Amino acid sequence: VPGTLPVVLIAEELAPSVLGVLGTDVEIRHVDGADRGALLPALADAAAVMIRSATQIDAEALAAAPNLKVVARAGIGLDNVDVAAATERGVMVVNAPTSNIVSAAEHAVALLLAAARHIPAADASLREGAWKRSKFTGVEVTEKTVGVVGLGRIGVLVAQRLAAFGVTLIAYDPYIQPGRAAQLGVRLVPLDELLRESDFITIHLPKTPETVGLIGAAELATTKPGVIIVNAARGGLVDEAALVDALSSGQVRAAGIDVFAKEPCTDSPLFGLRNTVVTPHLGASTTEAQDKAGTAVARSVRLALQGEFVPDA
Ligand code: MLT
Repeated sequence: VPGTLPVVLIAEELAPSVLGVLGTDVEIRHVDGADRGALLPALADAAAVMIRSATQIDAEALAAAPNLKVVARAGIGLDNVDVAAATERGVMVVNAPTSNIVSAAEHAVALLLAAARHIPAADASLREGAWKRSKFTGVEVTEKTVGVVGLGRIGVLVAQRLAAFGVTLIAYDPYIQPGRAAQLGVRLVPLDELLRESDFITIHLPKTPETVGLIGAAELATTKPGVIIVNAARGGLVDEAALVDALSSGQVRAAGIDVFAKEPCTDSPLFGLRNTVVTPHLGASTTEAQDKAGTAVARSVRLALQGEFVPDA
């Protein structure tokens, strides 16, 4: 009966399996979470809201949701949720911290290889009828040094995959145990050393006040000339304007970028450069990852609405 069941507001596209897990004891409503004018009134009745990375659940959104019990992030990053404000209101925040790590790692490796071999630019050129080969001469990955910035769950998976290419792996991560890095065959180094030594740099950090702008103009100036940079973590960790300058001067040979300081991003100086490979935040966009993320947080939502203990997803 409408009006008597708890309302679960789905604010972004989630895997179809989510509905089956939520079951029939809830009323499902949909809204476009990126449309604030629609989101705020829709939150009024919501007992749960389910999001990915395009919906901002900030203090204003929480204030518009007096019945809210749980915010469910079908993915990892919580930078679009004001967790402190939610906690203050007694609203639980759940995510699915391992759901999409393999997909994110595979996408980072795909961007790295695509940038090293100019795959999108060569593809576009061939489709235009040009058989150009020397123009798209790339570089090998093997025997190079790869610097992993952030050796967390995703950074480790990237390191393990790239190890198969016969690279030297170094990483910057002030929080990881040196023993764990050594086990993985990764040498831990300070960030300045990583910047100086790496032929490829791949970023795997959350977005926090400490990590925004971590790699800016000053840092890019100290990299090996011709370095290739991949960011499939969060926009703004590498300063976009500084990266555009470094790509234009050749200091950075190429970049694979999946994330932008402001999303959605449909217009950027990065798009005008030939030596960038860009994707619209697709790191977690696989059937498997969406299925895992969606069903994990849907289970948490069901438990939270039943007032039961919610284990880590
Ligand atoms: C995440 O933090 O899980 C990713 O950004 C993927 C997503 O947007 O769902």
